Amino acid sequence: MKFFLSPPHMSGKELDYIKEVFESNYIAPLGEFVNRFEESIKAYTKTPNALALNSATAALHLALRVAGVKQNDTVLASSCTFIASVAPIKYLGAKPIFIDCDESLNLDVNLLKLALKTSPKKPKALILTHLYGNASKIDEILQICKENDLILIEDAAEALGSFYKGKALGTFGEFGVYSFNGNKIITTSGGGMLISPDKTKLEKARFYSTQARENCLHYEHLDYGYNYRLSNVLGAIGVAQMEVLEERVLKKRQIYEWYVEFLGDELSFVPELDDERANRWLSVAFLGLDKNELFAYEKKDFCVQKKIALDPKISRLIEDLKNLGIESRPLWKAMHMQKVFEGESAYLNGNSELFFSKGICLPSATAMSKDDVKEISTLILKSLRA
Ligand SMILES: Cc1ncc(COP(=O)(O)O)c(C=O)c1O
Repeated sequence: MKFFLSPPHMSGKELDYIKEVFESNYIAPLGEFVNRFEESIKAYTKTPNALALNSATAALHLALRVAGVKQNDTVLASSCTFIASVAPIKYLGAKPIFIDCDESLNLDVNLLKLALKTSPKKPKALILTHLYGNASKIDEILQICKENDLILIEDAAEALGSFYKGKALGTFGEFGVYSFNGNKIITTSGGGMLISPDKTKLEKARFYSTQARENCLHYEHLDYGYNYRLSNVLGAIGVAQMEVLEERVLKKRQIYEWYVEFLGDELSFVPELDDERANRWLSVAFLGLDKNELFAYEKKDFCVQKKIALDPKISRLIEDLKNLGIESRPLWKAMHMQKVFEGESAYLNGNSELFFSKGICLPSATAMSKDDVKEISTLILKSLRA
């Protein structure tokens, strides 16, 4: 491949820090760099408590567990997301209720209200994904959570570096989650972070993340936990990556602007909210999207598997680019269309399906130059006009 979707982009300091880890012999399990990584996330997001973990999926699982979600509880969740946002609901034997998206690909507030009004059982929590680094309508959602005694868990796996009204996405809810998976805005090769304003809850998550071992000399267990902590070697990568996070955000935003400049006449893009600074983790574009077709209906339904077809122009474009060594991808296929969730409840408006068929994630590698983006855009236009 000549251009990947969102490959790792090292700062150059990673190996120096890894060397320090090896010299100290704190290869595992924890060590100075895990602490430093947590401190740097706390400082950047202005949040008081952070827990470094081996994935964002683990962070979501811990958040739900600490939130007290148990078997047969219900949990509301954004439907238009990656499965990792919601799989932990199933780990706990709870039931998801999926909510379709608005024009920004994020949770539709009206459908959330409808779900709360009509759900037979009071949901315990809401997992809110800020998709592709774009902010959800957080002010309204916070208010709804407060009025309905709902625990808000922000899946900001894709949104580290995004801010709304000057506040980091992930810091609005009772829990926030970031991912350092290989394709994220910064990476530790694999890793995640759980943050919370509540020290007691975060410390409970820390306890569960290391097998729920009681504080005594021998191994004593009154509860079960998980093996979810991040290693010190990966913590070292995280510290080096945090040093360039802001640079990466500015570059991702620049790449998005370049695509709008080169493709804006043919493709449409997701706008930012007022007062938002999105990280533009992936530049997402749509072909032939008629905004009048959005919000076609508003209804409660049950999930059914949908073999929904991509618009043939989008699938051909992705194929053409692949043949030229350029990686692009369809958007996430929403959870309510997935076989694995057949029969679960969903509140739908048709938007996720429309976006899925018309959307494409464009190469968004931060090492790309303006000429690279111009070359990719020229090839896109050529494919569309063929
Ligand atoms: C929206 C979203 N949630 C959760 C995850 C899970 O992150 P991780 O791979 O670190 O478990 C990802 C990415 O992988 C994601 O894109």
